[in-house]
Amino acid sequence: MRLATRRPKGWKSVLYNTAMAKVGRPGPLMMPVHVSVEPTNVCNARCPVCETGNGTMERRRGMLDLQAYRAFIDTIAPHTSVLMYYFMGEPFLNKHAYEMIRYARDAGIYVETCTNGDYVDAKGIIYSDLNEISFQIGGMTPETHAVYRIRSDLLTVQKNLNALIEERRKHPESNLQINTGFIVMKHNEHEVPAFLEWAREAGVDQANVIDPCVRNVVEGHAMLPSDRKYWFYDEEAFERGTLKPKHVLHNECTWVWNSIMVNWDGSVVPCCRDPHGHHVLGNAFETPLREIWNAKPATDFRRQIASNQQGVDICELCSGFGVPQLMPEAPVDFKIGRLSLDPTPIDFDYDPVTGAELPGAPSADRGKTATAARL
Ligand SMILES: C[S@@+](CC[C@H](N)C(=O)[O-])C[C@H]1O[C@@H](n2cnc3c(N)ncnc32)[C@H](O)[C@@H]1O
Ligand code: SF4
Repeated sequence: MRLATRRPKGWKSVLYNTAMAKVGRPGPLMMPVHVSVEPTNVCNARCPVCETGNGTMERRRGMLDLQAYRAFIDTIAPHTSVLMYYFMGEPFLNKHAYEMIRYARDAGIYVETCTNGDYVDAKGIIYSDLNEISFQIGGMTPETHAVYRIRSDLLTVQKNLNALIEERRKHPESNLQINTGFIVMKHNEHEVPAFLEWAREAGVDQANVIDPCVRNVVEGHAMLPSDRKYWFYDEEAFERGTLKPKHVLHNECTWVWNSIMVNWDGSVVPCCRDPHGHHVLGNAFETPLREIWNAKPATDFRRQIASNQQGVDICELCSGFGVPQLMPEAPVDFKIGRLSLDPTPIDFDYDPVTGAELPGAPSADRGKTATAARL
């Protein structure tokens, strides 16, 4: 309803495609409003769950080409509301990153990204006119950070984040929202309150407490937090030796009816749960996305989701992403988000938003639906 009154770019697509998803029709669809592009699938870090970090990535490694990217942006600008400028690597290792973001911004697209923060250049970000960035960290000390964010340096990440906050202060005209995310794991769960306190004091706009993803039960035993409110997985199934999400999907996914991913080499995959490129739908640097979006591989894929999602390998560990947002909010004072399906509050002995001491009065923004890409 709000969409129809505000009418942001892409509103008709979201309404139409979401309705098609709800009735299980695979197409033809209107063009997707969310497009992800992968600047690179190379990374300086070695996060053990990530296919890039742990070296299991089956796709060839490389960098998104500037010319191919520009031509692609020209074709998608009329219908794309949000460009997610990241996928299976560190976006700022692409030497054209700032130029690429700027190009999409000049084409009228809202751009957001996620980074490990090791190579972010503050002036480059402000120049790029990026809308939203999230620095994702793994601990509040260099040691705890590096348990999962292997080869990443917390002090460098924090230095780069502070430099960006300072640079934005010098540029009040900037559209940038600065977020930070904390991937909660066994080795760092005791640091969640310290993370929120640090984030507030640093001056970020939003701090996200992120439930961790793992790929199998062995990783689960090693990494999932003891506190199960941070679990995205079914606890009973886990005890029986099976890894499955708490909320199993039943032949529906509004996300892949509204969104698409383009790898660095132009290959198109349905969503971020396909890091290896097992379900390539076409190549967006050779064929217009408009054709790929409604061609047989894409409609066959959506048909399979609508009829037998349990048979779709990449849906196995996913709980769904809901409907993409069209016009994300402008920067706020300080907001806490939980990228979680569990509404259990995080307990604090102070108000995490204001920092005031309020014994027994937590006030985090809970149960927020995850819209960021889940690894
Ligand atoms: C593959 S990374 C690419 C972007 C960038 N290199 C980074 O790590 O932020 C995509 C997203 O997955 C997140 N991520 C990595 N490992 C995770 C895990 N085990 N559980 C939840 N999120 C994870 C990252 O923080 C990031 O938001
Ligand atoms: S999660 Fe991000 S930082 Fe970690 S290895 Fe993967 S791409 Fe690199």
